[in-house]
Amino acid sequence: MGQIVVLDQNMVNMIAAGEVIERPASVVKELMENSIDAGATKITVSAEDGGRKLMSVTDNGCGMDAEDLAAAFEPHATSKVKTSEDLHNISTLGFRGEALASIASVAQTKAVSRTKDSLTGNCVEIDCGDKAVTAPCSADYGSTIQVRDLFYKLPARRKFLKTANTEMTHIIEHFTRIAMANDGLDLTLIHNGRELYRLPAGRSLRQRIAQLFSSEIEENLIEVENNEKNLHLLALLGRPGFSKTSSKFQYVFLNGRFIRDKFISHAIKEAYRPSLEQNRFPVVFLFIQMPYDNYDVNVHPTKIEVRFYNTNLVHSQILAALREKILSADFETPAKLPAIPIKEQPSKSTATYRSQKIADAMAEFFKKHKPVQTQQQLGLRPAPAVAKRDLADEKTTQPASLAGGYAIPDTQYEKKFLQIHDSFIVAQTDDGFVIFDQHALHERIIYEDLRRRIHKSRLESQKLLVPESFELTDAQADALKNNAELLEKLGIELAPFGPKTMAVQAFPTMLAKVSPADFTLDLIDLLADKAAELDAERLLDQVLNMAACKAAIKAGQKLSDSEIQQLLTAADATELSGRCPHGRPTTIKFSTSDLEKQFKRT
Ligand SMILES: Nc1ncnc2c1ncn2[C@@H]1O[C@H](COP(=O)(O)OP(=O)(O)O)[C@@H](O)[C@H]1O
Ligand SMILES: [Mg+2]
Repeated sequence: MGQIVVLDQNMVNMIAAGEVIERPASVVKELMENSIDAGATKITVSAEDGGRKLMSVTDNGCGMDAEDLAAAFEPHATSKVKTSEDLHNISTLGFRGEALASIASVAQTKAVSRTKDSLTGNCVEIDCGDKAVTAPCSADYGSTIQVRDLFYKLPARRKFLKTANTEMTHIIEHFTRIAMANDGLDLTLIHNGRELYRLPAGRSLRQRIAQLFSSEIEENLIEVENNEKNLHLLALLGRPGFSKTSSKFQYVFLNGRFIRDKFISHAIKEAYRPSLEQNRFPVVFLFIQMPYDNYDVNVHPTKIEVRFYNTNLVHSQILAALREKILSADFETPAKLPAIPIKEQPSKSTATYRSQKIADAMAEFFKKHKPVQTQQQLGLRPAPAVAKRDLADEKTTQPASLAGGYAIPDTQYEKKFLQIHDSFIVAQTDDGFVIFDQHALHERIIYEDLRRRIHKSRLESQKLLVPESFELTDAQADALKNNAELLEKLGIELAPFGPKTMAVQAFPTMLAKVSPADFTLDLIDLLADKAAELDAERLLDQVLNMAACKAAIKAGQKLSDSEIQQLLTAADATELSGRCPHGRPTTIKFSTSDLEKQFKRT
């Protein structure tokens, strides 16, 4: 006897619901999307008990007449596609005709709807697939869909619902995505009668971000727009200094639809890579617009994934636009001054007196540390590798070039500055002052310079007067053999010096301060460790990081005025000097207005 039966329609719907309706938040998402597709300009979402008890979505969209209302809950009922041609050009959020049928098969559902040109509305109720007849009722134009007791006839699924708080978090997340993608809509979210979000139409996207996330996030975003080859891009990019521990704050929208795409995530990660520590994630809002027929949305039941027909183009365009903006942006970390708790509000005159005193003290301070005369020695090349090792030595007759072997731009440069704790440099700027971490800043400068040079050709190197030798294990010897090309690019020349011994014959000029043998051994260890897991570009990046770190002046190292001067000049000429290659800030900025605020002058 045949074992196969064709499932009845309600079973089919329930199975479809398993894919589309995972939890209350999925219902909210589907209903809000339907409202948007219906042309609504105002949508109100209300939930009780995290949506477990009730979800209701009211819109002022086109509404449905009696016939459509009856049909809407049938499986595969949709007004959005008609022919297979339409599938290649989907401009609506929905098109599968599954959501309402799925929802109604797993909950108590009630829909009330009225079209604009009709005087009365219509109403229909469906209890887990059991549909009552459609009946006229009074209603505002638009639609309200109410969904009660989700999964109440499916204890196994009901059991998997989490606490009201958790379910509400998911609802808020979906609401947020839709609100971000549709900043022209008036949206409200209510939970247990309390208004959580009221987002009026007609405000800016930034204002919406501030409302949905925080003004801190909004203030840390820079904008970039790009329009090429049919792809329009608007990105709000979080400053690297404002990174997060997960990628949760990365929102990508394609033609108004929130999507997840591993190629786009990769492009974002790549664009930020030089500016971020490992395991940190930037805040990014990315809005992509492209012709509907350039991708397929019909690849995932909830349409969170799409298939781009030209993935490479999308990837490279996003990467290029983001990278360029990130590299050119001023990412100095704005100083976060600690709020001083003032128990008793001092009288205005005391406060004014106090801040005046501090301002005077600062003026005095800067007077003492007069600007250093612009030194014509800027731009000099450093002494050769073997001749000059110690930057801290102020008596040296030859001025040290802090960055190793490259010419520092010969600009007329005058700054008031001061080294404190032999580790930080405080320098006056036009509108305040900055504090540099001398090691991190120098490291960044060297890193950028190394990168620039190595991408052009190989690093310039210098023969050592006395070759430095070191011993190798077999594994290290292998690593060396496998990465001969990289060593050559770095300008490191090695020659056998005994059975298990090698000697460094020539070493990059830029790493003048570093011990050639120690550096080469560390390099070989890094290669042995990382070469297998990293691609060439990333491996090189790590090598350059290491080189920059070793070659940079250290914390605790006293610098002469001319050295500080050179460092500051080089910092001005270096892209992205606001962060060290590990992503830590190199610079903290204080503006006079920050100070005035802090001193309660304003
Ligand atoms: N809020 C609404 N306002 C007007 N029409 C709606 C609304 N919600 C659903 N509909 C109609 O019901 C149909 C079925 O909805 P749904 O099951 O979500 O499928 P889809 O959105 O994929 O078409 C839609 O195509 C639309 O015509
Ligand atoms: Mg739909």
